Amino acid sequence: MSRRPFSSRVPAELGGNRLSQAIASARSAGEPLIDLTQSNPTRVDLEYPDYLLSALADERGLKYEPAPFGLVAARQAVARDYARRGVEVSSDHIALTASTSEAYSLLFKLLADAGDLVLAPRPSYPLFDHLARLDAVALRYYDLEYHDGWTIDMASVESAMLSERTRAILLVSPNNPTGSFVSRQELTALTALCAPRGIAIVADEVFADYQIRPGACVDAGRVMDAREGLVFSLGGLSKTVGLPQIKLGWMAVGGAASLVADALARLELICDTYLSVSTPIQAAAAELLTRGAAVRKQIQTRIAANYRALADLIQGVPSCTLLVADGGWSAIVRVPSIGTEEDLVVDLVSKGVIVHPGYFFDLPHESFLVVSLLPAEDQFVEGIRRVLRHIESL
Ligand SMILES: Cc1ncc(COP(=O)(O)O)c(C=O)c1O
Repeated sequence: MSRRPFSSRVPAELGGNRLSQAIASARSAGEPLIDLTQSNPTRVDLEYPDYLLSALADERGLKYEPAPFGLVAARQAVARDYARRGVEVSSDHIALTASTSEAYSLLFKLLADAGDLVLAPRPSYPLFDHLARLDAVALRYYDLEYHDGWTIDMASVESAMLSERTRAILLVSPNNPTGSFVSRQELTALTALCAPRGIAIVADEVFADYQIRPGACVDAGRVMDAREGLVFSLGGLSKTVGLPQIKLGWMAVGGAASLVADALARLELICDTYLSVSTPIQAAAAELLTRGAAVRKQIQTRIAANYRALADLIQGVPSCTLLVADGGWSAIVRVPSIGTEEDLVVDLVSKGVIVHPGYFFDLPHESFLVVSLLPAEDQFVEGIRRVLRHIESL
């Protein structure tokens, strides 16, 4: 066969897995499925106010004024949103992006050469593999450990940092799917490790508004408080106001003043090369952030109610344990290891319910199931009942 003209940034194998095949065949047979992997807020029966998008017609959207970091008014709106959460950031230190995923890509370009290392938590968000690979950086993992709550295994961070080529560490707070916030003590320890080694801290705070344990948001470490090293905080409309389709994210830059200034100058060149956020969205940003609070409130209520319902239902099934989650949009259930996780989730499709296996998020061993806390309460409860009934029947 002749040489094929593709880079190795995209994996050679693109086929689906057994779970996606089982879902596709159940759907094509017309079987109704309760989707407990649904993490798209626009598909879970939330009420979006009908005036929500009217700001997109703002006439400022008719004028193109290219600005690498985005329109000042939009960046000020994002700074006010940080202030709402008690975090002080200057709008001059904020850059708008089309999504958090894009923010990662811009930061990898800023911080790493091809082949450099970026550290990511395990378990965590599966998209990191693709995000890193598409920007030609290599991922190394550090571990989160569970003892009635998740903590960062600092020894695994230190050993992952041994390479001179380590450029950045990714934190997700609260993390997807563990629901664990990075604590103040952890952040202090990480800053002490990273700053002298010239390793940047990139904190993905997209779920920062969503606590399950009361007080968890207030107790969490705040990366923007750092005054040494270089830190970034990532956020976006997709989670904070449940509008992933709008495509507006951002990053805030903090740390030692001289590093911040250098980072902003370099980032400006990168952002100026793409100018990816559309003007109507920037013009609407302030209104979307304010009006979207109504959606955020519903999501906060939904995840808390579903987590409580899950805890209640699991109490009746001694072979299953709900792991403690402080926040976020998902929950992890430890289930008996009778077969493989993959067999279990495929069997569950035949019972009319879709859940993620733990290995999808690199949970340390089998068997865990990961469920989204977003589905409408009645669907969620029915889906969990089906899962538990099936496990009890094994
Ligand atoms: C931890 C985390 N970061 C980022 C994102 C994606 O955010 P965005 O839609 O802004 O790219 C997700 C989506 O699920 C996520 O779980």
